Amino acid sequence: MLDVKKDFPIFNEQAKKFVYLDSSATTLKPQTVIDSVADYYSKYSANVHRSIYTISEKATAAYEGSRSKAAKLINAPTNSIVFTKGTTESINLVAYAWGRKNLRAGDEILLTEMEHHSNLIPWQLCAKDTGAILRFIPFNDDGTLDLSDPDQYFNSKTKLVSVIHQSNVFGTVNPVNDIVKKAHDVGAIALVDAAQSVPHQPVDITDIDCDFLAFSGHKMLGPTGIGVLYGKPELLEKMDPFLGGGEMIRIVSLSDSTWNDIPWKFEAGTPNIAQAIGLGAAIDYINEIGMDAIHKHDQELLKYALEKMREIPNVTVYGSADERGAVISFNVENIHPHDLSQLLDYDGIAIRAGHHCAQPIMKKLGVSATGRASFYVYNSKEDVDRLCESLVKTVKFMGG
Ligand code: ALA
Repeated sequence: MLDVKKDFPIFNEQAKKFVYLDSSATTLKPQTVIDSVADYYSKYSANVHRSIYTISEKATAAYEGSRSKAAKLINAPTNSIVFTKGTTESINLVAYAWGRKNLRAGDEILLTEMEHHSNLIPWQLCAKDTGAILRFIPFNDDGTLDLSDPDQYFNSKTKLVSVIHQSNVFGTVNPVNDIVKKAHDVGAIALVDAAQSVPHQPVDITDIDCDFLAFSGHKMLGPTGIGVLYGKPELLEKMDPFLGGGEMIRIVSLSDSTWNDIPWKFEAGTPNIAQAIGLGAAIDYINEIGMDAIHKHDQELLKYALEKMREIPNVTVYGSADERGAVISFNVENIHPHDLSQLLDYDGIAIRAGHHCAQPIMKKLGVSATGRASFYVYNSKEDVDRLCESLVKTVKFMGG
C-alpha cells in the first residue's frame, strides 16, 4: 500500500483523525503542487505567449511544459491538448464548437443513463438548438451498462456518442473501447468523459481511439480551474473556435479574423497559467508514484472497503460491477445521507452525501441521495476501518 499522507499538508491542519473520503468530488493537494503554484505567483508571474522578457518566457515554458506532460499522460500528441477550466468546459466546448456545427434535426446524440450532469446538460442544450434527439443506453441493477442490444442504440442516425469512462456513483469502469468502436462503425464520433478515470488508471487514447476525451486537474491532485480536452487534431482543425478573444487569433481586422493554430485556437484570453503549471506538478507527482501503483493501491482499498461495508447490517451498497474504481455509493436504512454525513463528520470523516451531480441515476435507484466514499493515494486501510466503525455506531444509534 502507498504511504504518502505526509506529502499532503492538509493532514497537519486538521484534527489528527481526519479521514478524507471525497476524492471523486475533488482531491487533496500535495505540497509540490501548492509550491509550484506559489512559485509561479512569487517568482515569475508574467503572462504567457505574449512577451520576450525572461520571466514571461519562463511562464510560457512552464505552461507549455504542462501541456506536454498532460499529452504524455494519455499518450496523445501535444497539439491535441486544449486547456480548459475542467471537464464541464471541455464537454461544452465540443457541444458548441463541434455539435452546433455538425448536428441537424433528427440526428441522434447517444449518451448513457449513467452520465453526471456535465455530460448531460451540454447535450440537452445542444439538442434544443439543433433539433437533434437524445438517446440513452440504460444501466442494469448492478451499475453496469446494458449493452445487450447495441443495434437499438447505434444506428445510421447516431452522430455523436458521449460516455462516462468511470461512473462517479457506481465506480463502474465502462467498456469504452467497445463503445467507441460501435460509434465509429455507424460513422459517429465518440467522446469519453474521463474525469474519474484519468486520475486512477492508465488511460491511452491510442488504445481507446476516441475522438475527444475530457478530464479535470482538481480530481488528480492538481488545482481547481484547469482541465483538458483531448481532440483528434484533424477534428480540432475543422472546428470553429468556441470562445473569441486574444491569443486564439492570427490576423484581426475590424470586420474579420483568422485563427491561431490548434490548440491555441481554443484558448482565448489569458489562460489559467498558475493552475496549468500546478497540473504539471500534479502529473509529475503521479508519475513519480506510478499510475500502476496508484491503481493497485485504489483496488486494494476498494476490495477491503467493499468486504467490510457489505457486512454492516442495514447498509446498502450500490453497484457491483467486476471492473470498478475506488468509489462506493451507499445508504444506511432510515437515515438520510445528509444526516449520515454529519454524524460521520463528528468522527472526522468526510464523505459526500447527495445526488453526486447525477440526479437521473438517483431517480432510477429510487432514492433522493446516497452517501459516497471515494478513495485515493493518501487513504489507508485504517481510514476504511474508521469509516466502518463510525457506520456501525450510526446503525446502532438508529436502532439497527
Ligand atoms: N461529479 C463530481 C462528483 O461526483 C462533482 O462529486
